[in-house]
Amino acid sequence: MATQLKQFELEQRDHLTENAGLSTGPVPIAPYYCPDFFEREKKQIFERAWLLVCREEELAAPGSFVVKELPPTSVNALITRSKSGKIQAFHNTCSHRGSQIVYATEGRQSRFVCPYHRWTYTNEGDLIGVTDEANFFNLDKKQCGLTKIATEVWDGWVFLNLQSEPEVSLHEYLGDFRGYFEGYQYRGAEHPIVFEADLNVNWKVLSDAFAETYHISCIHPGTLSDAFTSSANPYGRLLDAKIFSPHRAVSMFGNAEYQMKPENRVEQFAAALGERGSVIAAATKEDAAGYLSHPAVNPTNSASWSMDVNHVFPHVQIDSGPGGFWTHWFWPLSPNRSRYEGRFYMAKPETMTERFLQELYISRVVTTICEDLTSMERTQKGLESGGKRFMQLQDSEIAIRHHVEQCVRWVEAESVREALS
Ligand code: FES
Ligand SMILES: [Fe+2]
Repeated sequence: MATQLKQFELEQRDHLTENAGLSTGPVPIAPYYCPDFFEREKKQIFERAWLLVCREEELAAPGSFVVKELPPTSVNALITRSKSGKIQAFHNTCSHRGSQIVYATEGRQSRFVCPYHRWTYTNEGDLIGVTDEANFFNLDKKQCGLTKIATEVWDGWVFLNLQSEPEVSLHEYLGDFRGYFEGYQYRGAEHPIVFEADLNVNWKVLSDAFAETYHISCIHPGTLSDAFTSSANPYGRLLDAKIFSPHRAVSMFGNAEYQMKPENRVEQFAAALGERGSVIAAATKEDAAGYLSHPAVNPTNSASWSMDVNHVFPHVQIDSGPGGFWTHWFWPLSPNRSRYEGRFYMAKPETMTERFLQELYISRVVTTICEDLTSMERTQKGLESGGKRFMQLQDSEIAIRHHVEQCVRWVEAESVREALS
């Protein structure tokens, strides 16, 4: 159980960065806009790393499928669950003349018929029907199934690897992060509320915006600041940071003495309906009790805890707070354009009160994300202006430093094993 409030020595640095073995110098800006670096990220990171693409709850029933674009690659992945329960992914490309076969983004069917000339495939990728087959030249249907994409599932997360033979298994790729995070309870995983937006920023600007709380009092003064800072920690210093090769977990401070302002009548009304986990939680503390007991949730066991940001390299954050978890996906589209996908998971509401509290929670999430957007595109413009070659990061921005270091490392590494070493 959480026992004590964290004390901060504001006259001194916290030394999270040095303790993690990271450099402390200025961090280069070129990876945030340079076209050549972006191309190398595509080849060396996104075409070699295990990419987290969805949760298995999106493929709950036998025969269900989802289709995912995987930018910055041009791959369009058809991910299926067969009758036997196996989850596998294929290129959504017909063996006849290359048309995309499935236009829908999700559904449930055991057969896929290409719309162009009606070749038919099973959801295990086998070609089972060719129209006017007799007019082909010794067509070997067994050799014309859908092209497989390496697929592995860990703790309900579906990962794909675009190497024809992945250099390392998902087990090796996740390394110590696997043991740290395994067994986490994904409350409400079957019911996400999804936000998507294409933004004029590099994917790392997007990721960085959700990786530190140093900005909270500046960007979110009326929404989050009072809950994420206090007189003891006015700049939102971190509670903790853990590095797991390319992955990481940072733990954020929360003001345990936070009081809602009396003039905030809606929040006051919501509070009267039952104690929430926090301002960033729709669930009650009682609902979340089992989930909160996992050692990776509030890992320092601090009473001054608000949330954890767990970054699965390269492009996904799995965040946990007092009421449950949510995810941010950062898909690179070009050196200065990215696709954001936020998923906020909650149990389906069964009463008017639950529905109201979830709506309030989501409206708060939307407001704070919009606040973050006010600085993101301005940051991208500043970075690509050429006005600076380096940025100066402080100790609480360790996640940003680690991410840039890992991107540079993967871009330069000749093999995945070298990048992970
Ligand atoms: S391209 Fe698919 S059947 Fe012709
Ligand atoms: Fe923010």
